[in-house]
Amino acid sequence: MTDTTTIAIDGPAASGKGTIARRIAEHLGLRHLDTGLLYRGVAALVRDQGIFPTDGDAVGRIAGDLTIEVLERDDLREDGIGNLASIVAAHPQVRAALMEWQRNFAMGGAVLDGRDIGTVILPDATAKLFISADADVRAARRWRELSKTQDIAYRTVLESIEERDRRDAERASAPMTHAADADLLDTSEMSIEQAVAEALRLVNEQITAARS
Ligand code: DC
Repeated sequence: MTDTTTIAIDGPAASGKGTIARRIAEHLGLRHLDTGLLYRGVAALVRDQGIFPTDGDAVGRIAGDLTIEVLERDDLREDGIGNLASIVAAHPQVRAALMEWQRNFAMGGAVLDGRDIGTVILPDATAKLFISADADVRAARRWRELSKTQDIAYRTVLESIEERDRRDAERASAPMTHAADADLLDTSEMSIEQAVAEALRLVNEQITAARS
């Protein structure tokens, strides 16, 4: 029998949601989609093709033509692409173009992580979490990661995270917010192992409640 369980994991950058989503998917034997990669893929193509990120129709066309190969590019994790992704993600044309993509992936069961999964993409998900952490904790985590491969100041990373939080939470179209029926998990004072264990406990509780 196919497992049609769908799990929505939302939260801001460097909250731990990506690792948590991947580990929950492994644990439950479900596929996993990091939806941030879709917006990052659009951003990379916008940059390559010299399109104005503010031109919603042109960026929307790029999103409509997005192919799975783009998600394999190894520049998608760059900080600059993350920022550009947050700008292009504000266009309703982009969000509409990527909605079906995400829902099709979720069909038959999956874990999706992003900003609007529990509110817009999978409002009927079996289980929902909203992962948060203080901005300075998230910036320190991101800085530790980025400084392995580039020379970057902690302050720059913190400002970039705060700017992205603001943009993602304040946009009119599908802003980042927690669904009313999501469990909130603040990982500020947790190791990633503690956060994964707590997230699994909450998700299992919601799955059991949904089945009873
Ligand atoms: O999760 P991430 O940092 O890779 O996401 C990059 C940007 O993409 C994020 O700042 C906002 C956008 N995004 C979005 O608007 N909706 C999603 N479901 C996922 C990402």
